[in-house]
Amino acid sequence: MNAERFIEKQTAEIRAEVGADRAINALSGGVDSSVVTALAHRALGRRLRSIFVDTGLMRAGEPEFVVGAFRRLRIPVECIDARAEFLGALRGLTDPEAKRRAITDTFYRGVFSRLVRESDAKVLFHGTILTDIEETVAGIKRQHNILAQVGIDPQKAYGYRVLEPLRTLRKDGVRKVASALGLPDSLARRIPFPGPALAARIVGEVTEDELAIVRAATAVVEEELAASRAFQYLAVLLKDRATGIRDGRREFGRIVVVRSIRSRDARTATAMRVPWKTLDRICARITAIPGVNRCLYDLTPKPPATVEYI
Ligand code: XMP
Repeated sequence: MNAERFIEKQTAEIRAEVGADRAINALSGGVDSSVVTALAHRALGRRLRSIFVDTGLMRAGEPEFVVGAFRRLRIPVECIDARAEFLGALRGLTDPEAKRRAITDTFYRGVFSRLVRESDAKVLFHGTILTDIEETVAGIKRQHNILAQVGIDPQKAYGYRVLEPLRTLRKDGVRKVASALGLPDSLARRIPFPGPALAARIVGEVTEDELAIVRAATAVVEEELAASRAFQYLAVLLKDRATGIRDGRREFGRIVVVRSIRSRDARTATAMRVPWKTLDRICARITAIPGVNRCLYDLTPKPPATVEYI
């Protein structure tokens, strides 16, 4: 894949598809949506409205990081607060697919529909990549951003068209295009992060308390493994509890799983051999999070496991 040629072709295609209309772009700060933002901004300039949706499911400091990184690129990004809407939609749900569906519906039927109507846009951009499509079609899991491939016509269902300029690329291709577009390494080399965000890393119901634990654990893992050569690293909060001791007393506490993988494109993966010293430090820091008394390291390759837990 020639990144320059891809950019030229997609920019022309976006201009042809959008015509004189306005478009909306949802930016999560992952490499896929960052590339879509930069491409669509290059093609449409001020006719593009880029929005960071604060779902309440994001990592610590995410809104500030994303808006700041794009401000430096002179691409304006608005941040909208949809935390209550997402947490409300997830309340009481424990089934993984039901949680994914609730997030999809809140994004498309709720937040995006409103934004599209209010800004009179006809098109919504999307960072779908080839792997998302393949895994959804294969029935492995419903990626939150897949619509047409599961029989949803967004025009009919939600009242707008969806454009997916990256649908022919895999992660490694997206990173090449990111660098060619001049995105800084903090975006172009960013480890993958799923659309359903921290909700993909909470087994069972997603509540503020659960989110606070997984957010704190994620910050520890990302800091400790930032210099590693892993494809992705993450923390997961299990629903089960385990007996432990804190301050000399019995505690029936929470269990956090740490996962770090080697992979080329996330279709298959193997566990990283993280140095014991690093694992020890991660374990000490994670079990210092109030209520957490176990920290486990996941050795499972994909398959049979997937990367995320829901
Ligand atoms: P799984 O868990 O399916 O993950 O083995 C494969 C890769 O995809 C990411 N992932 C997602 N990305 N929307 C996304 O944009 C999703 O719903 C989603 N689910 C998983 C995951 O982080 C990994 O890199």
